[in-house]
Amino acid sequence: MAENGHYSLMIHGGAGMLESLKDPKTASRYRQSIHRILEHGREVLESGGSALQTVATCATLLEDDPLFNAGRGSVLNELGKVEMDAAIMDGRDLSAGAVAAVQNIANPIQLAHQVMSKSEHVMLIAEGALRFADQCGIEQTPDNYFYTPERIAQLEQARLNDKIVLDHDETDSEDEAQKYGTIGAVARDLTGNLAAATSTGGMVNKSMGRVGDSPIVGAGVYADNETCAVSATGYGEDFMRTLIGKTISDLMLMKTLDGVQATAAGIDYFKRKVQGRGGVIVVDKNGQCSRGLTTKKLIHGWIEKSAESMVGFD
Ligand code: GLY
Repeated sequence: MAENGHYSLMIHGGAGMLESLKDPKTASRYRQSIHRILEHGREVLESGGSALQTVATCATLLEDDPLFNAGRGSVLNELGKVEMDAAIMDGRDLSAGAVAAVQNIANPIQLAHQVMSKSEHVMLIAEGALRFADQCGIEQTPDNYFYTPERIAQLEQARLNDKIVLDHDETDSEDEAQKYGTIGAVARDLTGNLAAATSTGGMVNKSMGRVGDSPIVGAGVYADNETCAVSATGYGEDFMRTLIGKTISDLMLMKTLDGVQATAAGIDYFKRKVQGRGGVIVVDKNGQCSRGLTTKKLIHGWIEKSAESMVGFD
C-alpha cells in the first residue's frame, strides 16, 4: 500500500552538456525558473489539486518560459518552422492524450490534455490536431510569438554546420543549442495518484514531420499509480527504441524494485542497448523522487514528500 498525506513533484528543462550553465547568470535564470514553477506546483498540490492538474500547470509554465525548448521557446525545424510534440498521462486509469507536429499552439500540453479528456483518441497530429484545437476553442497563436532572435540564430548556426542539432548534443561544445531541451513534469498528489507530462519543440533543423519520443506513451511519458510517473528528455529516437518510461515502470511492477532502483536499472538498459543520450525524472508510488541521466547535465527540480523545493543540474 502506498502512503498518503504527502505530495511529490519533479520537473525538468532538458539534458545535455549544457556548457552555458558554467555562466552564473545563466545558471541563476534556470534555477529561478525551476524554483518558481515548482512552487506553483506546490500550491496546486497543497490546495488538493490532482497530480494531473499539477503536471499540466507546471508543463504549461515551462512552455511559457522561452528559456526552454517547448511552447514559446521551441526550436525551429529545417524549414524554419516550429513543430511541437506533447503528451500527458493519468496514472489512475492510464488515460493519455498526445499531439505531434503541431504548429501555432502556445501550449501543446493543454491541447494534449483536451485530446485525453474530450476525444476518443490518444494522439492527434498536425492539421488534424489543429482542427481539434479549433473545436475545443483553443486559438492559434501567430508565428512571431515563437520566433525569438535566439532561435533564428540557432537555426542559422545549425544550417551553417549542415547538421541536425540535437537538444542534448554531447559532442559539439561550442553549440549554443546544447542548452535547449524537452520539458517535463511528474507528480504524486496527496491521495497517491500519479501523472506525467512532457512537451518539446524537438531538435533544431529537424526534418519536417519528424516526431520524437515526447508524445509517445511509454517512451517520453508514462504514469501508472501501481508504479511510477516518468518524463524523459534527450535524443528522442533513443527513447523510442527503448520505451524508457514503460521500461522503468515494468521494472517496478515485475521486479519489485523501488523507484530509485528502477530508474538506475532503466538508465543502465538505455545505455547498454542503444548508447542512449538523455535523462529521466521519476516519482514513484510512495513519493520517492529519482532522476537518471547519461548526459553531463539534467536541468531539474523536485519536492519530495512535501519538503523544501530543490534544484539540480546533474
Ligand atoms: N526528446 C525530444 C525529442 O527528441 O524530440
